Amino acid sequence: MTEEPTTDEQLAPRPGAEQAELAAEIRAERKRVTGGTPDDAHDVIIELDNVDVYYGDFHAVDSVTIPVREKEITAFIGPSGCGKSTVLRSINRMNDLIESARVEGRIAYHGVDLYGSGVDPVEVRRHIGMVFQKPNPFPKSIYDNIAFGPKIAGFKGDMDDLVESSLQRAALWDEVKDKLDESAFALSGGQQQRLCIARAIATSPDVLLMDEPASALDPIATLRIEDLMYELKQEYTIIIVTHNMQQAARVSDRTAFFSVDVNEGKRTGRLVEFTETAKLFTDPAEQETEDYITGRFG
Ligand SMILES: Nc1ncnc2c1ncn2[C@@H]1O[C@H](COP(=O)(O)OP(=O)(O)OP(=O)(O)O)[C@@H](O)[C@H]1O
Ligand SMILES: [Mg+2]
Repeated sequence: MTEEPTTDEQLAPRPGAEQAELAAEIRAERKRVTGGTPDDAHDVIIELDNVDVYYGDFHAVDSVTIPVREKEITAFIGPSGCGKSTVLRSINRMNDLIESARVEGRIAYHGVDLYGSGVDPVEVRRHIGMVFQKPNPFPKSIYDNIAFGPKIAGFKGDMDDLVESSLQRAALWDEVKDKLDESAFALSGGQQQRLCIARAIATSPDVLLMDEPASALDPIATLRIEDLMYELKQEYTIIIVTHNMQQAARVSDRTAFFSVDVNEGKRTGRLVEFTETAKLFTDPAEQETEDYITGRFG
């Protein structure tokens, strides 16, 4: 299926210098990275279909439907508490580790229901890796941080090669190749985060979930992570949660905007709009989205 190309008119900036700047930035980045608008020909790899998440009786997220396309970057944005992390965690069954959490609806990966009977959550996490907000390397050497997961998974190939290629793909190899035996804690925060990305890649996932992966990093390290995401999307599908709207605009192909409804003191998150990033930031369908991105809310 092909989509009409995004026209200049569609991308027409909203009033306000910032919006105009942002629109220009999105256009330039989009052109640089993809040569145009996201390609609808990419298959849907993960499909969230009417997903509700509960923590005990608490209805945290209501009816989220998002098709995630292969080799694209999908961003989740929205105010604190709207359920971005909750939805992200449900995609690789990390919510299983929270006793009170319950997922309803369907989440399919390559058409397979991830919550179907007989699906092993550990196996799911091998295909759908996760990188957290705060870099969390193991208290081990740089080498062992990478080798640990594959070893447990019974990897029989050449471990040195796997460690090198994972670090290469995470754009960290040149900085650490002479100190693989040193502790991961001796690395800077930005390097530790790239190590965590290398660790996630080492088990050969095809989807990477990233929950605010750059929020603990300085601007330079943040840009390195963003550059790395561009590289990684040649091979991987990425879903990123971010509070930084400029970041969502810079890196992602499509964006899901979540909001939160307060009803009798209960806060339930819901998806307001999911569309092409360039459209969401310049010509959103919903007033609520517009209010959020122009800073009148959240
Ligand atoms: N382990 C948990 N147990 C109970 N409630 C939880 C748990 N984790 C999150 N919640 C609740 O679910 C709702 C959504 O939280 P979530 O962390 O997914 O939001 P978020 O959009 O990621 O917020 P932030 O931007 O602050 O990270 C919140 O009301 C939160 O209090
Ligand atoms: Mg969160």
